[in-house]
Amino acid sequence: MFSLLFNALVGIAQILNEGQSIRKNQEKMKKKRPTILVTGGNGQVGMELQKLATLSTEFDFIFVDIDELDITDAVAVNSFFKKNPIDYCINCAAYTAVDMAESETNLAWKVNTIGPENLSVACAAHKSLMLHISTDYVYHTQQTKPYIETDFTNPQGTYARTKLNGDEAVLKNHPGGALVLRTSWVYSSFGNNFVKTMLRLGAEKEELSIIYDQIGTPTYARDLAQVLLDIIQKTEDQVVDKKYFTGVYHFSNEGVTSWYDFAVAIFDFKKMPIKVNPIETKDYPTPAKRPPYSLLNKAKIKNNYGINIAHWQHSLRECLELL
Ligand SMILES: NC(=O)c1ccc[n+]([C@@H]2O[C@H](COP(=O)([O-])OP(=O)(O)OC[C@H]3O[C@@H](n4cnc5c(N)ncnc54)[C@H](OP(=O)(O)O)[C@@H]3O)[C@@H](O)[C@H]2O)c1
Repeated sequence: MFSLLFNALVGIAQILNEGQSIRKNQEKMKKKRPTILVTGGNGQVGMELQKLATLSTEFDFIFVDIDELDITDAVAVNSFFKKNPIDYCINCAAYTAVDMAESETNLAWKVNTIGPENLSVACAAHKSLMLHISTDYVYHTQQTKPYIETDFTNPQGTYARTKLNGDEAVLKNHPGGALVLRTSWVYSSFGNNFVKTMLRLGAEKEELSIIYDQIGTPTYARDLAQVLLDIIQKTEDQVVDKKYFTGVYHFSNEGVTSWYDFAVAIFDFKKMPIKVNPIETKDYPTPAKRPPYSLLNKAKIKNNYGINIAHWQHSLRECLELL
């Protein structure tokens, strides 16, 4: 008798619990998912975000590139934000042809400075949080210890200068609502990059000469895309206080290398018998100067957002499996 009563009570409790969890799920489903706008959505980082978006159940995404939204057009940007409620904007759009920028100065300035300025004005007006991607090239000094976010900037060349001006515009227009993420040596299975260039040249030639006196860290665009979404997720879930969502942050993979060692690693992983000769920067003149040392200190992003970062060789191997 007692056990019958006990079983009946357990049954009722289970029904109530199930009812509560169904209600909680329904409430979660009713709550509108935050919308993330990704500009420059067909670039390396944009494409990696598109890939991650297919797996996401937490966010709605809008991907646009220059044909759908030219970020240099202030009127178009503002009316896009008016028509589409945006919770977060990730700006992946940029003019990234570093050497061409020396002759296409005006276009580089429009895309890298005016574009981010337009987006940050719209984000501030429409209360959207903005994540803007920037570059290690803004640090071009004689320093030989990893750069922290407050270090002196000294951009050389149009690309670097226009990017720094873009960072400054974003932080000025949207204080407390914009985060500038500076990264380095980005590659992916999408778009044009050093890894794909090496694979192409390696298939054509038996011997290559690659610079060994520029030091930095490669960044797999997939890892960068994941970090951008992690920051948004942690902000949404209030795991990390929104007060951290401001200012400059650094992100690259872990480790240190030169372009020469990067090339050697690519050919080793791919088992391509290419002879790689180390050469100095002076033996490979380019229109735009590159920083000789651009290691980024990532303590801030690790501490504030609890980000774990993969070693560059580990991520390179994963990317090469796709190529
Ligand atoms: N690549 C690197 O090694 C590297 C290193 C450090 C930092 N970063 C930074 O990382 C970010 C992402 O770089 P990424 O390598 O993914 O760049 P990416 O592959 O060159 O992609 C940039 C995208 O922006 C688009 N775009 C150009 N002008 C535009 C405009 N006016 N309006 C809207 N979209 C426009 C481009 O279209 P089109 O292709 O048609 O021009 C392209 O799809 C950039 O901010 C870059 O400065 C890159």
